[in-house]
Amino acid sequence: MRWAFIVGARPQFIKLAPLAHELQRCRIPFQIIHTGQHYDDNMSRLFFEELNIPRADINLNIGSMSHGAQTGEMLARIEDSLKEKRPAIVCVFGDTNSTLAGALAASKLKIPVAHVEAGLRSYNFEMPEEQNRIVTDHLSTLLFCPTQKAMAQLSDEGIEDGKKYSGSYLRERTVVLSGDVMADALFSFSLKAAEKRSALALGLEEDGYALVTLHRAENTDPPGRLRKIIHELGELQLPLVFSLHPRTEKVLRKEQIELPENIRIIEPQGYLEMISLERTARCIITDSGGVQKEAYLLKVPCITVRAETEWPETLTHGWNRLAERDGTLHVTEKVEEAMALDRDKAQWPACYGDGHAAEKIRESIVSWEERFL
Ligand code: UD1
Ligand code: UDP
Repeated sequence: MRWAFIVGARPQFIKLAPLAHELQRCRIPFQIIHTGQHYDDNMSRLFFEELNIPRADINLNIGSMSHGAQTGEMLARIEDSLKEKRPAIVCVFGDTNSTLAGALAASKLKIPVAHVEAGLRSYNFEMPEEQNRIVTDHLSTLLFCPTQKAMAQLSDEGIEDGKKYSGSYLRERTVVLSGDVMADALFSFSLKAAEKRSALALGLEEDGYALVTLHRAENTDPPGRLRKIIHELGELQLPLVFSLHPRTEKVLRKEQIELPENIRIIEPQGYLEMISLERTARCIITDSGGVQKEAYLLKVPCITVRAETEWPETLTHGWNRLAERDGTLHVTEKVEEAMALDRDKAQWPACYGDGHAAEKIRESIVSWEERFL
């Protein structure tokens, strides 16, 4: 088996899809190891089906637990799987606990790691994702950056293309501006998604609602924070449709947060339904990395309920706005500003690649293998 992909959380299934299809097209054998970090049907199985991803070869069924316990359990179990299959390259995505565990397990077995979505930084070290991505980048041999900024951030940390290392697995770093595999996925599935007309199916008027997703620990965990955000959303004179992540659902229930009348909750959506809802939204209110980028790619104004973003390109021409400043939330104000954006006139540089990131990643890994393996 040549390559192993390690995935576990919703956005990773989406990032895997373009690469799995590219390897199938080139007849390169691979296996998929699913850690089981996400396990509900609508957080996992649905994505394999809708995006036509081959079934995982191994599902470790790790499930939910504290960060340390979850990462530790994954590390041990991924190591067993890798020892058995002995892939030539291990490929990990993004910044979840599954990413970190996969990169650690592989590097301890001296298997080269390829990191897709390398070089992103929030410089907020409280975020579990920031810890995961820094460690993963430093352990990786092949780093695929979605943006020019990500390339520069790696260079600031001494991670540069062509740098040589002694030992058997790091060898020579390959750092490539590949573009974003999420843009690949969006471009290839957008027609199919548009056919869904999901807003109409929910009885919403196209362009007459805002779409909401919130799941970051920094928004759900500090006491009172989620209640405050929901209160601000209730001030908006606009119907809101809120795709509820299981983490957020738990907190809403535990803290008995009542929802204002303009908010309608829906279950986590499939990818096609979600893209359809994003495309016809008046604006999108989110703390998701992937959703911020999709909003930009679809030219829908976005409000990010955070103090910083790993995707600063989206902020430049007003397509995205941060709703927190100096520790204070300004959700209502930022939504009003976002809705005033002139979508036809606002500049929109293409910053996430040309939809061929998976092809570039496949070419770079194959050429690295030809040189070193
Ligand atoms: C994880 C990632 C985050 C990513 C997000 C994508 C880490 C540290 N965080 O956050 O970077 O943005 O996935 O969605 O890896 N749960 C269910 N069913 C599921 C999955 C989770 O009920 O299928 C519930 C459990 O109560 C669990 C909670 O959601 O404790 C959080 O899940 P977890 O995977 O730990 O973190 P996410 O918030 O999903
Ligand atoms: N997504 C989805 N259904 C939903 C919410 C999100 O398909 O109900 C998709 C979304 O379109 C994007 C990805 O999931 O492609 C983003 O994942 P998520 O927000 O869970 O994580 P993040 O990107 O913040 O790590």
